Amino acid sequence: MTKQNETSWAEVGKSHPHESAVLHVSGRANYTDDMPETQGTLHAALGLSTQAHALIRHMDLNAVRQAQGVIAVFTARDFPGSNQCGPIIKDDPILADGVVEYVGQPLFAVVARSHELARRAARLAKIDYETLPAILHPRAAHEQQSYVLPPMSLTRGDAQHAIANAPHRISGEWQVGGQEQFYLEGQIAYAIPQEADGMYVACSTQHPSEMQHVVAHALAIPLHSVQVECRRMGGGFGGKESQSALWAGVAALCAFKLQRPVKLRADRDDDMLVTGKRHEFHYDYEAGYNDEGLILGVKVQMLSRAGFSADLSGPVATRAVCHLDNAYFLSDVDIRAMCCKTNTQSNTAFRGFGGPQGAILIEHIIDDIARHLGKDALDVRRLNFYGRNDDEGRNVTHYGQKVVDNVIHELVAELEQSSDYRARRAAIAKFNATSPVLKKGLALTPHKFGIAFNVTHLNQAGALVHVYLDGSVLVNHGGTEMGQGLNTKVAQVVAHELGVPLSAVRITATDTTKVANTSATAASTGTDLNGKAAQAAARQIRDRLATYAATTLGGVASEVSFSDGNISSGGNTVLFSELVQKAYLARVQLWSDGFYATPDLHWDGKSMKGNPFSYYAYGAAVSEVVVDTLTGEWKLLRADVLYDAGNSLNPAIDKGQVEGAFIQGMGWLTTEELVWNASGKLTTHAPSTYKIPAISDCPEDFRVSLFKNKNVADSIHRSKAVGEPPLLLPFSVFFAIRDAIASVADHQRHPPLPAPATSEAILRAVNAIRD
Ligand code: MTE
Ligand code: HPA
Ligand code: MOS
Repeated sequence: MTKQNETSWAEVGKSHPHESAVLHVSGRANYTDDMPETQGTLHAALGLSTQAHALIRHMDLNAVRQAQGVIAVFTARDFPGSNQCGPIIKDDPILADGVVEYVGQPLFAVVARSHELARRAARLAKIDYETLPAILHPRAAHEQQSYVLPPMSLTRGDAQHAIANAPHRISGEWQVGGQEQFYLEGQIAYAIPQEADGMYVACSTQHPSEMQHVVAHALAIPLHSVQVECRRMGGGFGGKESQSALWAGVAALCAFKLQRPVKLRADRDDDMLVTGKRHEFHYDYEAGYNDEGLILGVKVQMLSRAGFSADLSGPVATRAVCHLDNAYFLSDVDIRAMCCKTNTQSNTAFRGFGGPQGAILIEHIIDDIARHLGKDALDVRRLNFYGRNDDEGRNVTHYGQKVVDNVIHELVAELEQSSDYRARRAAIAKFNATSPVLKKGLALTPHKFGIAFNVTHLNQAGALVHVYLDGSVLVNHGGTEMGQGLNTKVAQVVAHELGVPLSAVRITATDTTKVANTSATAASTGTDLNGKAAQAAARQIRDRLATYAATTLGGVASEVSFSDGNISSGGNTVLFSELVQKAYLARVQLWSDGFYATPDLHWDGKSMKGNPFSYYAYGAAVSEVVVDTLTGEWKLLRADVLYDAGNSLNPAIDKGQVEGAFIQGMGWLTTEELVWNASGKLTTHAPSTYKIPAISDCPEDFRVSLFKNKNVADSIHRSKAVGEPPLLLPFSVFFAIRDAIASVADHQRHPPLPAPATSEAILRAVNAIRD
């Protein structure tokens, strides 16, 4: 291998702006809906179910067909191939067929001359339903054993025995709510028929290859006849990992049948009514602990709201089970998880993918333990941390993976200091003693998050790198850009490898005709996987150039250096572009593919044991809130965050990810509440009724830093993933609110506070523990 000049521009590790930042802020970044429309483009809209569970006796679509501007109406029966879009299990019809299973389920698609005419026409259907009993709550589903998948279980040791013999025990029920992804760009697909039964689909999706599969199967054509492309998304957050499929499938069906381009763009209400969200979780737990607060045994049952079909609920529940430990060693555990089938939207991926729902429960248990023992929760947390890496007794997770990269002790110690945790704790106690209405609260919560897809085979990626004769470089990889900065980081990796400036590297739209059989950009692995694949591709070109350079410049291939836009060998230096031109004339291949598969992963789904993760990303946050105990209103006054991005490829982008995830997670745990009415209709399906955080909810004092670290695993430049883990950091906001509430009863009672801690929920908790 050729020599990398470590003192070069080091395009990796620098805070380059997002590669599309200028386009984003000047409105010139193209999203799917911005593509120039091909002549003859038509627009589709969906007719939605108004019943939660019913047989469809008859669909009278005459009025829809006769409405102004309508070209055609399609139903489940019109698919030449499969009417299925379930990513793992085929239990998910694209258009309802004979039965509806939630309010909002698409029944038919109407194609019209304009978007508005299609939407108006869709309302004119007369559907004759035969109502069936609906299950609207996970606990009701559990009582009836209504699951989308068989229950899961993971045990280690003897939790029952450990709890029974522990000096102290707690038990209870708790719940955390779901969450709408609320990507700013809604779901959209634009299908354009191609010659010989081909189909091109531009789609806002985290998973172009999966869209290719769904479209090919729906149209009964081979995969090579379908091209799916995504330049960028205006956010995905997991909501476009599998559930862009319905939109791609319907647009492709309409375009195929009519042999005309068809665009299907969801408006916000339809998007929220149709698509799945983060899984709400309901827990029954028991734990045993000693006088210091050391956890001796934990027994948990988790019920998730899967909705009407399996979608990704299985891997989500698996990740929840594998994150119950969070940063803590749990010797004896007994975990059961059920994916409850309810007559609601089919829940799906959302940043954290069940990890947050697993980890927050142990934090809730620890919060109660600390209050019961009259200890600072930080001390109880620290006592339960995984041992340092050489601590053989306390460094194996409940699923059998050895923790070899634990930095939580050092990271939390640093944050405790830098946030002035102890002094602020004392100041808050003082404040609360003299403030009858406004109460302050403080909490420090840590996280440890496993990085890799928990479905082993998904941990692979490919890339193509082209070097052109002017020295400019074009990169295509299997990952998708959703704002997270993946393309910027991959471009940095390639620029670094070839020793060219970042401006010389351009990344093209994700395209199933360029890199085949890609995984979703998900599980925070985008850069880990595609960065390595692009590096491998660039390295091959570099090696070929080095061999050639040695023959023309002198020196030996292994000593050739690539830096600052130059190539040097044998004491001679030429411009990168100059050598490229000469190499072309010498018939050296100037493009290459690259492939990467994460090593050493294995998982046994039955016993739920193995080595599912490549490494862990750690972090911690301290949040201070003030709560108005008469209204339930609250404010985050200050947040201090320390995140372990390893050897960060781009500190500015990583900090942006941490800030965004923190605020998004705070929304999940506080103001974002999904409400279904008694007939199963989601009533919070627009920003008017569903409150995501606004800029005014961000703390004025927000201190985000990256922890100095180097990945122990051989990740791309020893960096660590950053996309999802920081969503766990605002646990600290929730527990700070709980701490503030507890102060009204002098920390003697546990506030019964579910998540989301809406103002109403806060007020109820205050009133429940006040004398
Ligand atoms: N950041 C932005 N701006 N927009 C997004 O949609 N999605 C998150 C995270 N950060 C998201 C985001 C989710 S759910 C994941 S899995 C990762 O980005 C995916 O990208 P990565 O693997 O490249 O980090
Ligand atoms: N995250 C996101 N998507 C996934 C995962 C995961 O861990 N496993 C399978 N699909
Ligand atoms: Mo992210 S939930 O893995 O798309």
